[in-house]
Amino acid sequence: MLREVTAVRYVTPLREGGSMPGLVEGDDHRLYALKWSGAAQGRKALIAEVLAGELARGLGLPVPELVRIDLDPVLARSEPEQQIQEQMRASGGLNIGLAFASGAFNFDPLCFEVQAELAARVLWFDALIGNVDRSWRNPNMLVVDGELMLIDHGASLIFHHSWASSAGWTRRPYDAGDHALGRFVRDLAAVDAESAARCTPELLAAAVAAVPEEYLVDEPGFEGPDAVRAAYLERLGARLAGPRDWLPVLEVGA
Ligand SMILES: Nc1ncnc2c1ncn2[C@@H]1O[C@H](COP(=O)(O)OP(=O)(O)O)[C@@H](O)[C@H]1O
Ligand SMILES: [Mg+2]
Repeated sequence: MLREVTAVRYVTPLREGGSMPGLVEGDDHRLYALKWSGAAQGRKALIAEVLAGELARGLGLPVPELVRIDLDPVLARSEPEQQIQEQMRASGGLNIGLAFASGAFNFDPLCFEVQAELAARVLWFDALIGNVDRSWRNPNMLVVDGELMLIDHGASLIFHHSWASSAGWTRRPYDAGDHALGRFVRDLAAVDAESAARCTPELLAAAVAAVPEEYLVDEPGFEGPDAVRAAYLERLGARLAGPRDWLPVLEVGA
């Protein structure tokens, strides 16, 4: 279960990406990057953020803590930009926050060396969840105290945008052509067995369980949250069970 935090102060929008998460202070006096429930990307992006983020954590990959953030839209009054203010007003109640890493800078593959095994494990994970948002143009990784940190998984797990046609997703190849860590990976096949073995049914279930019930209650075509959770488990389980020919074949040193 994710920790619960109440937003007490809105500081500023984080403008690097497209969705403009808000930097907010919680009632625990810590800062969070808040992903708006009322953003155009919708709840599915928040579900993916939580499910993929917790999966990454379970796989031993570096991700910030994820929390549930309760937001009173009255905090929007300090935001001068109307578009952001509207987004905040539409996001009263539950939102998702990532522990804000102060002093972090955005990862640049030309300035920061990543160890081959870590790079391979990250790329394997992105291939599993179908993450298109880890390109060298838009890496969605931070460097915090000299260590890599993964953020922004909202665009992964795209099968949940169309459940009816989602069965084919389990075999869909992952295109790693412009992956930000591709140049550091030496042997992707070498991490496949270990990463897949770490992805136990229990680990998958824990990641799925972390998704707030509120985001699953009214999913069309499902009887309730448990049925939606079971569907996520089934799709991810099937992709993992293989054959894992969705794993890209990389040209080493490309
Ligand atoms: N936990 C965090 N700690 C520090 N900076 C963050 C954090 N989360 C996001 N940011 C900053 O905000 C930017 C936008 O966040 P991101 O999650 O990528 O959303 P989007 O790309 O949808 O706008 C990131 O590129 C990064 O610079
Ligand atoms: Mg981003």
